[in-house]
Parts: sequence; C-alpha cells; structure tokens
Amino acid sequence: MTGTWIILGAGSALAKAFAREAAKHGAHLILAGRNPQELATQEQDLRLRGAASVTCALFDAMNEQHRGALVAMAAQAKAPVSLYWAIGTMPEEAAMRADAVLCTQMVNSNFTSAMLTCNALLPLFEQQKAGAIVLLGSVAGDRGRKKNYQYGASKAGLAAYAQGLAAHLSAFQVPVLLVKPGVMDTPMTWGKKNPPLPLGVPEGLAKVCWQRAARGGTLYYPWFWWPIMLAILHLPRKIFNKLNF
Ligand SMILES: NC(=O)c1ccc[n+]([C@@H]2O[C@H](COP(=O)([O-])OP(=O)(O)OC[C@H]3O[C@@H](n4cnc5c(N)ncnc54)[C@H](OP(=O)(O)O)[C@@H]3O)[C@@H](O)[C@H]2O)c1
Repeated sequence: MTGTWIILGAGSALAKAFAREAAKHGAHLILAGRNPQELATQEQDLRLRGAASVTCALFDAMNEQHRGALVAMAAQAKAPVSLYWAIGTMPEEAAMRADAVLCTQMVNSNFTSAMLTCNALLPLFEQQKAGAIVLLGSVAGDRGRKKNYQYGASKAGLAAYAQGLAAHLSAFQVPVLLVKPGVMDTPMTWGKKNPPLPLGVPEGLAKVCWQRAARGGTLYYPWFWWPIMLAILHLPRKIFNKLNF
C-alpha cells in the first residue's frame, strides 16, 4: 500500500526493516523517533532505496506536543496515510517490580502512547477511508507468563485495543494489523536468555507486514509461534504455574 507511511519508533530494528521495504515500493515516509541524527542517516539511505519522499519528526512516546505536531504533519501528507507502530521497551521484570517509574514508562511506551496516537489520528483515518494501521504487539500478550508478565500485560492491552480499533475502522475500510512477533533478532533480545528456537529476521517480518497490511487481522511471526502459543494458551493452570518461563 503506497501513499505515506508514518513510522513510529523509526530507530527500532523492526521499523528500519519495514521502512526499507516501504521505500522499495516507492512510498512517502515520515520517520518519527527520538534521535534526530539517526533519523537523518536513515533518511538518506531510504531516498537511495526508492522512497518517494522522506520527512523526519521528533517523537517521544508521551510528549503531547510531538503527538500534536505529528497529527498536523499527517494531515498535509500524501494520501492515503498509513501507520506503523514499533515503539516499545522490555526492561527486566524484577527491576520493574521494584521501580514504579520504570514500570510506568514501559506501559506508556508500549501501550498508552500507541492508543493516544491512534486516537489522535482517528479522524484522519475516518475521513480518508483508506490506508492501514500496523501495530507491533507480541506473543507475550497472549498469556501472562512468570518471566515477563508486566511486559506481556502491556502487549495484551495493545491487542485488546487493536481488536476494538479494527472493529471501529472496518466501517471506514481501514484495516488494522496486530503483529505478534516471537523472539526476533534485534537489540531488544540481544544478551537475553531466549528460547531455543530460530530467531525471527526483521527483513522477513517487514516483507510479510507489507503484504498483509491491506488485509488486517493478526499475524504471528515466525509462523511457528502460532501453534506454540495455542498450546501455551490451553495448558492447564496447575501445569502452567509450575513452568519457569
Ligand atoms: N525484538 C523482539 O523479539 C520483539 C518481539 C515481540 C515484539 N517486539 C516489539 O516490536 C517493537 C520493536 O522492537 P525492536 O525489537 O525493533 O526493538 P528496538 O530496536 O529496541 O526498538 C524499540 C524502539 O522503541 C523506541 N522507544 C522506546 N521508548 C520510547 C519512547 N518513550 N518514545 C519514543 N520511542 C521510544 C526506541 O527508540 P530509541 O531508538 O530512541 O531508543 C526504539 O526505536 C516493540 O514494540 C517490541 O515490543 C519485539
């Protein structure tokens, strides 16, 4: 889907791969992130890769002025406007239990800000009756596990929001795709004790997101996380509670 893609969390490894995919298809891009220097470097690269235009926007997840400026920028952008949400943090669970500020920042960046940003852009999506919304959730949102239930709770909130948003926007022909990556090969998981499964490749996910955006729904990536999560969801509680993962 061409037109303009607003990429939030543009410095994220998964967002960078998606921006390269969108550039390849000649899309206009708005890169929104916290690090202007890094965005400027990406801008040049994406132009060389075929993007029709690239604009950078300063965006911190909980900054209302940044959000307002982004909405104004979206209103001027080449239609249809689409959104790719990649902002997120995954601090250590024990650290978040001990630090209310850290826990609040995680919920704000993973969930609250996504909801507020989609809410702010909703009138534009309703009016244009086109475009798409892609939100990066996680398999961690499917069932709260001992090892990462606070992060998982933020992604479960995002999943419920995505379902309702998709239902609302179905009347306006705007698909919402909730992506549930398993463990991906990005800085977020480097150095962590990951399950003994192949890591997802950002470029692969970017390609599938590009192909699936127009259909909406839910996407597990890599595909084998769907049967794994189905099994985990149906584990009896007594067994589930004894597992250390
Ligand atoms: N990697 C995985 O295995 C995996 C699995 C499931 C879901 N996901 C989800 O996929 C998304 C992208 O993750 P990733 O693996 O690409 O991780 P990443 O490279 O660490 O990217 C996370 C991005 O979030 C941005 N960010 C964090 N807090 C922010 C804030 N307050 N305001 C603005 N930006 C903020 C970071 O900005 P800076 O560049 O400025 O730090 C960074 O660009 C996240 O939502 C993550 O939860 C990842």
